[in-house]
Amino acid sequence: MNMEKRANVAVFASGTGSNFDAIMNSPDRNFDVVRLVSDKPKAHVIGKAASFGIQTIVFDPSDYEDKSAYEQELLEQLKRARVEWIVLAGYMRVLGETILDEYKGKIINIHPSLLPSFRGIDAVGQALDAGVKVSGVTIHYVDEGIDTGEIIAQEAVTVFPHDTKESLQRRIQQVEHNIYPRVLNKLTKE
Ligand code: GRF
Repeated sequence: MNMEKRANVAVFASGTGSNFDAIMNSPDRNFDVVRLVSDKPKAHVIGKAASFGIQTIVFDPSDYEDKSAYEQELLEQLKRARVEWIVLAGYMRVLGETILDEYKGKIINIHPSLLPSFRGIDAVGQALDAGVKVSGVTIHYVDEGIDTGEIIAQEAVTVFPHDTKESLQRRIQQVEHNIYPRVLNKLTKE
């Protein structure tokens, strides 16, 4: 029996949760997902977490005075759950210093482009508009900027002339679902 301690991870997501699904279903996952955090009380991903038996932390930022107020409460819940790593998977909010300071070097994001190209929202649309022949996926550490943190891993995806946003996004997500669990396994073991 492997007695090594498994890392405790919280996944933050605001939407569909296909990356959350991929992480949960990854057969050789060597870390534990102990919380799903969502800022969207109606997000699809919340139902997915329930089906995996993962406890959720759901909050509506508009119920709070400001970002530091909800992040302070969130931080307390993360600590109580002994969360060591924060994994952003379609979390549509910029983290503030309350969380960033406490989890320095332990927050990871996945972005659907080859950073530093096409930061921010609609990276797939941005790539198509720019006419690039290659786009891809980047996994990076999170800092105070938007998609600016140190790059951990990247994988290229060819853009075909007939690609639509939907078709390119589908192929990019297939890559995401494969690379994210693999990279997280490696990082959380170090
Ligand atoms: C992913 O494509 C990821 O790159 C981006 O947000 C999307 C989330 O998709 N940051 P899902 O909710 O995991 O399906």
